[in-house]
Amino acid sequence: MNVRSVAELAHSAHGPMRRAISRHPLVIDMAEIVVVGGGYVGLCTAVAFAEQGHRVTVIDVIPEKVARIKQGRAPFYEPGLEESLQRLISARVLDATTDLAASVRKADFTFLCVGTPQGPDGSQDLSYLRKATEEVGKALRNSQRSHVVVTKSTVVPGTARDVVVPTLEHGSGKRVGAGIGVGSNPEFLKEGTALQDARHPDRIVVGATDETTRAAIWSLYPGASCPRIDVDCTSAEMIKYAANAFLAVKISFANEMANIGDKLGVDWNHVVRGIGDDPRIGHLFLRAGIGFGGSCFPKDVAALSHVGREARAPSKLLDAVLEINERQPLRVVEMLEAALGPVQGKRIALLGLAFKPDTDDVRESRARPVWQALVARGAEVACYDPRASRGFSALEPRADIRTTLAESLEGAHAAVVCTEWPEFHGLAARPDAPPVIIDGRRAVAPGGRSRYLAIGDGGAR
Ligand code: UDX
Repeated sequence: MNVRSVAELAHSAHGPMRRAISRHPLVIDMAEIVVVGGGYVGLCTAVAFAEQGHRVTVIDVIPEKVARIKQGRAPFYEPGLEESLQRLISARVLDATTDLAASVRKADFTFLCVGTPQGPDGSQDLSYLRKATEEVGKALRNSQRSHVVVTKSTVVPGTARDVVVPTLEHGSGKRVGAGIGVGSNPEFLKEGTALQDARHPDRIVVGATDETTRAAIWSLYPGASCPRIDVDCTSAEMIKYAANAFLAVKISFANEMANIGDKLGVDWNHVVRGIGDDPRIGHLFLRAGIGFGGSCFPKDVAALSHVGREARAPSKLLDAVLEINERQPLRVVEMLEAALGPVQGKRIALLGLAFKPDTDDVRESRARPVWQALVARGAEVACYDPRASRGFSALEPRADIRTTLAESLEGAHAAVVCTEWPEFHGLAARPDAPPVIIDGRRAVAPGGRSRYLAIGDGGAR
């Protein structure tokens, strides 16, 4: 059975027939899917659906990005993405275009994967989402075909109800529930393993405005063996925020505890070993260091805090999480000064510019405040990253970027490690290792003659 007929049948059915369709273990041959937004979430979602045999069209407003995708070239580095794009574009099951209206008119589903940046007051800027939804609505105005619009972007709770539904109804002139449905199906992918996460999610959350729409969305995940969570759209949106906020809480908790442990001579990794076997706690996401960066945690925690304030339920916890995270990069600078004295005129190798390994993404990278603090104190900073140099130069055009690790270490009084790239693992054992290594990520293996200090090691090495 083709998903189009399932969706259409389901939308036109009533009573027991409708319920039967909702319960039917839907097996689909091929759906026409539009994915709006060619970023991490959009492209990985598109690849995962196309690999399952659906026809997917990626929409982006930037023509150069569309041209790149059409050539099978990824607009950013993500392991395995380029190979998958090439394969699927050659097989003609994946395409990209700037023409949203024409693509939506012949599709069964639109997945909204546009950016939701942070406004100046920490609130979420939904203007891209509004615009995309309005355009999808207009495209559906004279269409007889049933269509489901699903949000995958991280959006503040209430967005489907207060923004997507009314905007879609306004644009299309139709009522949601009569031929068009709205859903929320948040994405939990992590950069660096984004494709794997999209192909093999650890859970799937579906919110929907009605049961027919819910059945249509589930029809896209016929073989998923992971837990399936059915909720309303607002709960689905909150699930995404709560997940990211909780992970950010864990990191700031680990950093706060590690800071205390460093004063008491306690190695935080030993503590995690001792608490992590308690199934209520676990071992993961308790690595201490210079804090969390990336496109999600800083922005999402700020947005949720803003939502709480607006709803007259302000969150001291979320604000503290962000405050700890802002302070944490400066710890490596303090440690450096404690080891070297004033850094004025000293040569420092800044190793790792990406917000985490296996990505070229420098958004909210914690290396940036470290670089700024060192430069403000008059240090000569030589930066190196195996992938993120170009992105970092765009943010900080004055940064002195070296092309190899060896070049960045030339004449260095100290190295500060900000990203746990595997290349830095053997840093201490290198013949050109600097006299002092400050490890902001516990990335460097023991050994060698350098003085080694790491956040959270309690001065153990
Ligand atoms: C995150 C969420 O993990 C993902 O589920 C969501 O969909 C998007 O946001 P991502 O931003 O790609 O994914 O990276 P993640 O691996 O979660 O790391 C985020 C930041 O936290 C990195 O800067 C990382 O270095 C830092 N981190 C992570 C720590 O400082 N300590 C830890 O224990 C774990």
